[in-house]
Parts: sequence; C-alpha cells; structure tokens
Amino acid sequence: MSELISNIGELMTQDGELGTLRDAAVVLEGERIAWIGPTAQAPAADTRTDAQGRAVLPGWVDSHTHLIFAGDRTAEFEARMAGESYSAGGIAVTVGATRSASDYDLTRLGLGRLAEAVSQGTTYLETKTGYGLDVEQEGRSARIASTVADEVTYLGAHLVPAGIDADDYTALVCGDMLDAVRPYAAWADVFCETGAFTPEQSREVLTACRDAGLGLRVHGNQLGPGAGVALAVEFGAASVDHVNFLADDDVARLAQSWSGWDAAALAGRGAGQRGTVATVLPACDLSTRAPLAPARMLLDAGVALAIASNCNPGTSYTSSMAFCVATAVLQMGLSVHEAVRAATYGGALALGRESGLDEDGARAVGTLAVGHRADLHMLKAPSATHLAYRPGVPLTAGVWREGVRKV
Ligand code: NIG
Repeated sequence: MSELISNIGELMTQDGELGTLRDAAVVLEGERIAWIGPTAQAPAADTRTDAQGRAVLPGWVDSHTHLIFAGDRTAEFEARMAGESYSAGGIAVTVGATRSASDYDLTRLGLGRLAEAVSQGTTYLETKTGYGLDVEQEGRSARIASTVADEVTYLGAHLVPAGIDADDYTALVCGDMLDAVRPYAAWADVFCETGAFTPEQSREVLTACRDAGLGLRVHGNQLGPGAGVALAVEFGAASVDHVNFLADDDVARLAQSWSGWDAAALAGRGAGQRGTVATVLPACDLSTRAPLAPARMLLDAGVALAIASNCNPGTSYTSSMAFCVATAVLQMGLSVHEAVRAATYGGALALGRESGLDEDGARAVGTLAVGHRADLHMLKAPSATHLAYRPGVPLTAGVWREGVRKV
C-alpha cells in the first residue's frame, strides 16, 4: 500500500541535503518513505491525503522516558511548588507502588502513556526500568518495557533501595540483575549523582554493562556539578542526560567527543565516530525549578543536542515533546529549527538510529528522507514556528508511525 501526502506547506525534513521544502509531497510505501519532492511532480499512489498547506515534520524521537511505573507523586510535586527541593529519595515511593502492581496494570499504564505520546506526535520512544530495583522486579520491568517502547534501557542503578549496602547493591546491578534484564534491554544507564550512585559505583556499572554488550547512557550533572559528563564521554556513552550543572571542561569534553564525526553529520547525514549527545530535558527543569540546562551554549560549542520529555512521575510528568520544544525556544534560546532538530534528529542520534538500515533491518528515524522510517507529524499550522508561537495549543493534525496513520 502506498500513500501520497500532498500540498504540504512546509516540509521540515531535518535532512542535511533536502532541508525545508515548500509546497511539497511525500509518498509512503509500507513502513518507509519512498519519495519526497514538489507536489507538482508527485507520483500516483494508492491513497492521497491533502495536507492543505499544513506543516509536516519528522515524528518526535523521545530518547529519555521512564514509563514503567505505578502510583502517584502529586503530593511531592505540591510540596516542591511550595518550596521543597527535589531529591532522588522520591524514587522510592514509585518503587513501592510499582512493585505492588500486577504485570497487567504495569503494561496497561505503560501502553496508555505511549498512546498519549503518540497522539501528540511522538513516533519513536525509549523507556527505562528503574522502579523495580531488585533482580525479579527489574527483569519484569525490562520485559514489560520491551512490549511498550522501541528501545529499552536498564536503569537498575537509579537509587540504592533502603536496607542494602550501596556497594552490595551495585554488585547486584552488575551481576544477577544485569543477567535478568539482558534479554530485553539494548541500553544501560546510571544515575551518577550525590544521593544516587558515586562516580566509582557508576564506573562499575558502566563497565559491567558495556562488557555485557549494552550501549551506555548516563543521568549526569542534574542536581549539581559532578562526574557524570566526564564518565559518559570516557565510556563513549551515546548520551548524557540532564546536564544542568556543567563545568567548562564538561562542555569541551562533549564537543571533543564529536571530533571524529563528519562535520556534515551534525547538519544532516552522519558518518564516522559518534560522540556523546547532551540530552536536555526542559520539562524536568521547569518541574523541579532547576536552572535550565545551557542548551544554547552547548550548541554554540559544537555539542550534539537532543531534547526529550523525561516523562516520569517525579520530575517531569509530561509526554509532550511539543511543550519541551516550545520551552527550548522560549526559555533556552534555541531557534524553532534547532529545537525541532534536537527533538527529532538529536533524539535519533542519542539512540543510534539516525541513519541507514542496521543489521536487524531497522530504518533511520528522526529525519525525512527516502528509505527512512515513515514517521511523520502533521501540524494544524502552516509552519513549525507555531509550536513556539502558540505554546500549549494542541497542534497535532496527523501522525504516521511506520507508515500507519495513528491520528
Ligand atoms: O530523570 N534523575 C533521575 N531519574 C528521573 C527522576 C525519577 C523520579 O524522581 O522518579 C529523572 O529525572
């Protein structure tokens, strides 16, 4: 089955060669994009959708979420808005509720959150374990996550549960717990922060997970300055997420990590040695009243940037990538094009899904080009600028995920 989407007012491909096209058309063939060009030259297809001058972008690539949880932390949020500061300790509340939930409920809740994200234009999504924190529960979370998300990250190193020595727990994360999640997870993450895991414990976790063949990511420099960024770059992690408190050295390390990457790649098509993406989480920064991550400065320094929702019950209970993009423009100093890019191509880069067909036949996401996954987001607006110009307005008019229309 093929579908022609014609009369697109602004087609923001995020592809370095195609750029942004006016009065454009796209042909979808099964799960992939088969043709892109001017509407006047579009080939025939089995079905036709008239975009009526609306804007079309790649679907959002949300590279950082925590969707596998039960329970509620409204009271913690209220206390924070009344002046309390965020601490990692709140994670334990969600761990208790998650452990008590049935498989059925955890799956239903996770799929409900995914559906909410897709209805707002997200077409590729990562999610993490991290609210189980024992061998059986982390294995269960990873299994359920694999039925919900495109990419699963093992985050046994989220918090040291009460009643166990931190080093003993770290050994468990690196041993039996890792074995339990290994069939389901392609990535591992560690919350390297005061109150969570020390740099030494984080190093142990990263080493064990790398040796087990998992790709790496790090929660780093969220609550204060620390070793998260340096460790992420040293281990060749695909991303370091949060990055609110950065030293000059951290920024230099992140920029330097991309020195083996073809410069054209950051503008579109990538090749060479991938570095560590800095993933900023604007909704989390607002919800925790943290200093906003320095996204403008990171881009200016040549760091590859992603924007993600960090949807989780503690620090960022939103699945709206559009909200994150609007905040990045209005509060972090990014242009609309830069923010959309970070929320599409940047997310793909953070998940290693930015180009080509991999050995499993998975297609590139985050950019619109021939052969890439047919993941598109149509706006109820003539240009992507409306995402920031009309913040908070539901602007999603259509969503195609692997070529299938969802909205
Ligand atoms: O990415 N920082 C650590 N993990 C989550 C918060 C988890 C929670 O508080 O439940 C985050 O913000």
